[in-house]
Amino acid sequence: MCGIVGYIGYNDTKEVLLNGLEKLEYRGYDSAGIATLNKDGINLFKVKGRIAALRERVDNNVQATMGIGHTRWATHGAPSEDNAHPHQSASGRFTIVHNGVIENFYELRDAYLNDVSLKSETDTEIIVQLIEVLHQKYNDTAEAFRQTVALLKGSYAIGLIDAEDQDTIFVAKNKSPLLVGLGEDFNLVASDAMATLKETDRYLEIHDKEIVIVNRDYAEIQKLDGVAIEREPYIAEIDATDIEKGTYPHFMLKEIDEQPPVIRKIIQEYQDDHDNIKLDPEVRKAMLDSDRVYIIAAGTSYHAGLVGKQFIEKLANVPVEVHIASEFSYNMPLLSEKPLFVFISQSGETADSRSVLVRIKELGHPSLTITNVPGSTLSREANYTLHLHAGPEIAVASTKAYTAQIAVLVILAVDTAQAKGINLEFDPLQELGIVASVMESLTDQKETFEKIAADFFTETRNAFYIGRGMDYFVVQEASLKLKEISYIQAEGFAGGELKHGTIALIEEGTPVIALSTQKNVNYSIRGNVQEVEARGAKTCIISIEGLEQDTDTFVIPHVHELLTPLASVVPMQLLAYYAALHRDCDVDKPRNLAKSVTVE
Ligand code: M6R
Repeated sequence: MCGIVGYIGYNDTKEVLLNGLEKLEYRGYDSAGIATLNKDGINLFKVKGRIAALRERVDNNVQATMGIGHTRWATHGAPSEDNAHPHQSASGRFTIVHNGVIENFYELRDAYLNDVSLKSETDTEIIVQLIEVLHQKYNDTAEAFRQTVALLKGSYAIGLIDAEDQDTIFVAKNKSPLLVGLGEDFNLVASDAMATLKETDRYLEIHDKEIVIVNRDYAEIQKLDGVAIEREPYIAEIDATDIEKGTYPHFMLKEIDEQPPVIRKIIQEYQDDHDNIKLDPEVRKAMLDSDRVYIIAAGTSYHAGLVGKQFIEKLANVPVEVHIASEFSYNMPLLSEKPLFVFISQSGETADSRSVLVRIKELGHPSLTITNVPGSTLSREANYTLHLHAGPEIAVASTKAYTAQIAVLVILAVDTAQAKGINLEFDPLQELGIVASVMESLTDQKETFEKIAADFFTETRNAFYIGRGMDYFVVQEASLKLKEISYIQAEGFAGGELKHGTIALIEEGTPVIALSTQKNVNYSIRGNVQEVEARGAKTCIISIEGLEQDTDTFVIPHVHELLTPLASVVPMQLLAYYAALHRDCDVDKPRNLAKSVTVE
């Protein structure tokens, strides 16, 4: 949450900062600001709203060769110009951008800042005011910065500039993501390499509790005590065109369409020369050594975990528990003797998942991260990583990462099964190939889903999705998609559970979308449809070839019964997309949300 960009070089910084912030807008977009520094001092521009509004606010006549910028997802203090970053110290000498949450900000305020009158409601302002107070003591910005950072508890990615030093951006990191980009005659700071790919592909990783002194010609990583650390840069392997919309109206639609090629890429990446599954032998060993898998995830990734549990249990015969990351620490189950923790996370930065990872590492348990971002925090900190190969996912509503997660979980389950000598009666890679073709045929029928969405979702305030077995997991994801981008109150329900209370909410015209792709529940889910129809619901049945009936609204072409979630989620994603369009919602940047949830 929140995005940070910084530039220090010899060219004007405004465009680099604004372009970078646009690329980071997925991280939060309620307010934004930049501060640049030149010989006349700091130039500060802030707005409530999006980067487009900030662009209009920025004075194009101001030239400066260094600066910092921020796009915000509010935690402390409502979205407003006062609470927007950058924040400044009382004298205006120090200016800061920050992503994260300072947990001890009240303590720090009461201990050090009684004489300072604060201008915002943010925890961030405490940091910059504290730097100014400690600067009075140390008379050295780097030292005041180090001393301040040492006092902070919580998560932070920080960029600081000192109005009396045009040659340095001071950077610090703990838990929140931050990178230093290296260029010829310039250096950059960014929450995510995507922000600065236009400028460079060479990056320096920053670890927690490190500080970086960033100048035009070098960047020195230091420990909190000031001791320098050597670290080799790495090349970010992201194709800059992957983060453009191209001719698509929205990233979400582009990403829905990218699902078939992503599945094919996964097949290719996890296949050896003999068409067998190829997996890191250490991951295989970890699976074989464990007596129970604990999947930890949030949101859509949690929904992928629910599906993954079925594969691992049914194919590999290993028991699996799936836990919501934010609840795990409070409701930690009795662990088995040899647990393996599997973290599923598109971004690899989700703070709730990370706090579980930190905890289980303390307990000495092994961990595997399945992520779209191999250099991410969860990937670096877990013992093993499996890459999703989905390419950058920009729309806040996750689509291609979900199907990629499911496909990689299939690979993991099948590999474990084969290593255990279990004979599977299907060729998983071939079946995944069929899934990719079916996905294509679904994405080719957008007009059909647009019409269904117009019919079912244009007017309604609420909607229900029902399914049983595997379909129950998919309808949970379907309802999350609809909620987050169309703001329709939606529930994904187990078909049989509805009549135990929630059916009371069904009234004349309530939309109920039923999914039926599983032979063993086809009859019973259709019974549930009858029940809601009898109470006035307006129903839509999405079924699969082989189980279809004449009255079904849409029939998905046949795929292997275990792999149906990969296909059946596509109509659900498209229904949510068109529902949001019909309701004039901001599809890629829905209200109140951010793509990467880096606060607990
Ligand atoms: O990056 P992660 O996969 O860890 O993110 C987890 C959730 O925040 C994410 O899936 C969220 O639910 C999406 N907005 C759903 O579309």
